[in-house]
Amino acid sequence: MANSIRFFLNGQKQDVAVRPDITVLEWLRSGPRLTGTKEGCAEGDCGACSVLLGDASNGEIRYHAANSCIMTMGQIDGRALVTVEGLKGETLHPIQAAMAENGSSQCGFCTPGIVISLAGLAANETAADDHAIHDALAGNLCRCTGYRPIVEAARKVVGDGGASIPGPTVEAFEELKSSVEIATSGAVFHQPQTLDDLLKLRRDRPDTVLLAGGTDLGVALADFHGDWREVISTAHVRELRRIEETPAHLSFGAAVTWEEVLAHVAPLYPSFATLIRRFGSAQIRSMGTIGGNIGTASPIGDGPPALIALGAEIELASQGGKRTMPLEDFFLDYRKTELKPDEVIASIRISKPAGGQEFRVYKISKRYDQDISTVCGAFSVVRDGGIVKSARIAFGGMAAIPKRVREAEAALVGKRLDAEAARACAAAIRDAFAPLSDWRGSAEYRLMVAANLAERFRRDLLGETVEVMAL
Ligand SMILES: Cc1cc2nc3c(=O)[nH]c(=O)nc-3n(C[C@H](O)[C@H](O)[C@H](O)COP(=O)(O)OP(=O)(O)OC[C@H]3O[C@@H](n4cnc5c(N)ncnc54)[C@H](O)[C@@H]3O)c2cc1C
Ligand code: FES
Ligand code: FES
Repeated sequence: MANSIRFFLNGQKQDVAVRPDITVLEWLRSGPRLTGTKEGCAEGDCGACSVLLGDASNGEIRYHAANSCIMTMGQIDGRALVTVEGLKGETLHPIQAAMAENGSSQCGFCTPGIVISLAGLAANETAADDHAIHDALAGNLCRCTGYRPIVEAARKVVGDGGASIPGPTVEAFEELKSSVEIATSGAVFHQPQTLDDLLKLRRDRPDTVLLAGGTDLGVALADFHGDWREVISTAHVRELRRIEETPAHLSFGAAVTWEEVLAHVAPLYPSFATLIRRFGSAQIRSMGTIGGNIGTASPIGDGPPALIALGAEIELASQGGKRTMPLEDFFLDYRKTELKPDEVIASIRISKPAGGQEFRVYKISKRYDQDISTVCGAFSVVRDGGIVKSARIAFGGMAAIPKRVREAEAALVGKRLDAEAARACAAAIRDAFAPLSDWRGSAEYRLMVAANLAERFRRDLLGETVEVMAL
């Protein structure tokens, strides 16, 4: 058991005995007084609090931007943290210099977060690509400069080489192992390394906070200042971090992040990849996990509709053994699932595309980026000679749970995907739901949008629509 949290801060080894449930932002500003990291929204939306987190991968340290306002100190144990102060060595980091030369800052409140996001991008990207710059900035809100000079500064640096992140050496980093248990100031942060150890902890402490990336739970902690005296983290459980690929399937451990899912899904299901790129921001995708998205059981979560339409299976594990079920059967009622108190989500498995399979998922939200779905509809059909042999259709935002719509599937099976079949499918979607009205959309709006997606899907398969991306 360790009595402190050990990590690298701007290249220097730290041994800090603070409560593991205080946010990294709070500690940075009140402990070492690194006040370049700002607090804006305090709920993961604006990027003012962005920091870089480093993890060892294939003999190198890879850094990704994350939101320090919804990340707890326990989560940085065994990792490398870089703040905006740490980017500058003898000279400015190239992105800092480019931002200054380019007039990319006015009031400057957003600037440290933007510098961090672009430094993370520049360290990982080999080519200057406007889409990558756009994705990297989608989680950083600038209210006064406007994005043009910021994007121009990024174009000068990203892909130019020489923009590495100052930090520890790989050797020094690898010596720093995450602790299995941290006990400081009356609080305990468990970091089991194996599924068996996680399941033992879960059996003995079914009411303890179970934390993955913390992008849902961290918002609740920041908003309601909950008491996390004891936390079990899944972030270091080997089996839950695994991605397995067979000729027919892809399986993601529950603690695999959305950024990691994206890399594997993109070549197989481009439409799913487009959805994932719109999932929160780079900061959220680098921490938020596929298991956490399902575990939170939100009716408007983006993962479940897409995964249900892809026929995903979920594996639950406890000390008593494992059980597997279709993902649609996991959700029972509003925020109620099949998960028993001593169980965890172990993995999610999807099939690779079958011959003749077409898949599309549509996220309807008020903004293109960094927004929550009003409606999310996913359609998958397998066609043979133009006839639909099988179909799977699922929606989020239309009911208390993410829901498969078998009646709408039946309206397509055995038919050509023509306008008449799309109309029948749309009618079945309308009949299947009685959505709520809220500030995101009225019930009537939701029904109309969801039903229209049947026709959108048909036109997409005919090549009549274009993917619109905001730049
Ligand atoms: C700014 C912002 C933007 C967001 N944008 C989106 C978006 O576009 N689309 C979207 O769908 N969501 C979005 N989210 C929500 C969130 O990022 C996702 O739901 C994410 O996938 C949650 O994963 P996590 O690892 O952070 O979960 P956590 O917060 O760690 O956990 C969430 C829940 O899942 C449970 N859980 C975690 N792992 C397991 C497990 N292995 N077994 C059982 N239960 C488990 C936890 O106990 C908790 O109840 C956003 C959140 C923020 C703050
Ligand atoms: S303060 Fe806004 S994302 Fe953290
Ligand atoms: S420079 Fe003022 S918010 Fe971006």
